[in-house]
Amino acid sequence: MALDRELTDVLSESKKFYPPSAQLRKNANVPDYEKMLKQAAKNPLKFWEEAAHDLHWFKDWDKTFEDKKKPFYKWFVNGKINLAYNALDRHMGTPVEKKLAIIFEDETGVERKFTYKQLYHEVNKLVNALRGLGVRKGDRVAIYMPNIPEIAMAMLACAKIGAMHSVVYAGFSAKALADRINDAKAKVLFTADGSFRRGKVIDLKSIVDEALKETKTIKKVIVTKNNKQKIKFNKRRDVWYKDFVKGQSTEAKCAQMDAEDPAFVLYTSGTTSKPKGVIHVHGGYATGVLRTIKWVFDLKGDEVFWCTADPGWITGHSYIVYGPLLAGVTTLQYEGMPDIPKPDRIWKVVEKYKVNVLYTAPTLIRAMMKYGTAWPKKHKMPSLKILGSVGEPINPEAWKWYYTHVGKRRCPIMDTWWQTETGMNMITPLPSASLKAGSACKPFPGIIADVVDKKGKSVPVGKGGYLIIKNQWPSMIRTIYNNPKRYIKTYWSQVKGAYFAGDVAFKDKDGYFWIQGRTDDVLKVAGHRIGTAEVESSFVAHPSVVEAGVIGVPDPIKGEVIVAFIILNQRAKPSDELKQELKMQVRKGIGPLAVIKDIKFVDKLPKTRSGKIMRRVLKAKELGLPLGDTSSLV
Ligand code: WTA
Repeated sequence: MALDRELTDVLSESKKFYPPSAQLRKNANVPDYEKMLKQAAKNPLKFWEEAAHDLHWFKDWDKTFEDKKKPFYKWFVNGKINLAYNALDRHMGTPVEKKLAIIFEDETGVERKFTYKQLYHEVNKLVNALRGLGVRKGDRVAIYMPNIPEIAMAMLACAKIGAMHSVVYAGFSAKALADRINDAKAKVLFTADGSFRRGKVIDLKSIVDEALKETKTIKKVIVTKNNKQKIKFNKRRDVWYKDFVKGQSTEAKCAQMDAEDPAFVLYTSGTTSKPKGVIHVHGGYATGVLRTIKWVFDLKGDEVFWCTADPGWITGHSYIVYGPLLAGVTTLQYEGMPDIPKPDRIWKVVEKYKVNVLYTAPTLIRAMMKYGTAWPKKHKMPSLKILGSVGEPINPEAWKWYYTHVGKRRCPIMDTWWQTETGMNMITPLPSASLKAGSACKPFPGIIADVVDKKGKSVPVGKGGYLIIKNQWPSMIRTIYNNPKRYIKTYWSQVKGAYFAGDVAFKDKDGYFWIQGRTDDVLKVAGHRIGTAEVESSFVAHPSVVEAGVIGVPDPIKGEVIVAFIILNQRAKPSDELKQELKMQVRKGIGPLAVIKDIKFVDKLPKTRSGKIMRRVLKAKELGLPLGDTSSLV
């Protein structure tokens, strides 16, 4: 398989190591990366069994792993556990209860803090109020909120009851929200009046009101007052968060869940226009997330952990909400943009709260790079210990900038490759690893990964191929909500017996993995996962559009942006106004996260004989690259 143009850059980087300092190695939770990999590989099941013992189980499991009904694997069979109990209740009566669980700051500078004990009380009140509404084990609760403490509270309260939360990123449109509510048949919806973004207030509640016109299952909407704007209030359906929890007891019983009971559903994009509801479960998810956060970010217990993602994505689920709380450290939630009011806001927050771990995305690093080094230089950041990167491949240039100007060559960068479906970091260094600029290093202990051809055969060193995971792991996706067939087809049918990740990668001679990007029609726009089919179906919903073909093209900051090829019907006339209208159409269908760079009106789209749009051909033409194999082109 051909790899993209950047490969030559990357290959030259693959020869250079950035070793850890002796001090760092000595103090690391895992002092010898390579040794640990070998040790875990001898018996991955034993490795995960030990990891699971870091949690509180109401009842121990009978069997660590079961593969009777492949690929519907089970972990910790018959064990009883609760994800929220492990994140909160377990810390009560220990020194952790007095520690800060959440530090929150918004773009305007408002600050709020919660100790573990306070958070525990808040969550319990919410649990009682939700139970009063009739929310029970197995019910679905939708959450459409900004990155504020109440989103964490809502998630934790659901998990404590055993209800599944379905968090929908608050940048999605009313239609996208409605589709997700309908697929999950959610009973209750959490939202806020609005959120802050770039000094503006986004009116979330009116988006919710619009979405609810298209849904039938939501009985109650719980609204957090976040930025005090005036909103429409439907007295029968809506209730303010404050009134909802008023007078509730600060203690609540925790549901004892089966290890394999679903904890949440999280929708993500795939190759069709319908998003997939990825299911994660209480036992395995808690195990994978706790083990990875502790080891990858070297947590000792007193850290301030700042993951700049949004709780609406898996990164936020695992490393803003559940991971830090399972590990008993302080999680920082910042609601707003990193460069408001000035380009040093991000560094200011690091300095102010003495952040120890900063976990962010390449797109953000590249945006900060553009502003220049003077901004991070203005701030004292000796608290930083470990840096992280996630969401898309980090180019060596951005890696080196982050390493030099943020980490001062002192903080190792954990480039963590993983997915909504994997639940936890999968290919990543640990702080004791020797790093390479732009490589996610090797699979986490207990994970066996490879790069293979279509037949599942390992490809030689330096050759591109499909990234697969050859074994199973506790925090893996269990199924796609209401669609087990799609689960089998998407992940377990491409390469026999292995999990098909959908990414292209290569391994270098030291066994380091270099992730190149997606093989399928999934885009990463500023780290946000969007399906080309979703964008195309938004375009086609416009009355002037007959057909649409959408591709991602490289962008120096956002990683990828969208270029669309549109066939108009005979009555429509191509114009700049129409282009603008079509961009708005996609905004309405998906949300502002789907950034359309350009729209091209065409008469024909390249197609296979079976009628599928050959996006590969569109992309090659757009970028001036060789067309490759076009034998199936009509
Ligand atoms: C990409 C985000 C290169 C990859 C956690 C994957 C990465 C998709 C990295 C999943 C990384 C994530 N290096 N590529 N460190 N991390 N990706 O589900 O293409 O939003 O398949 O999960 O992001 O995106 P998702």
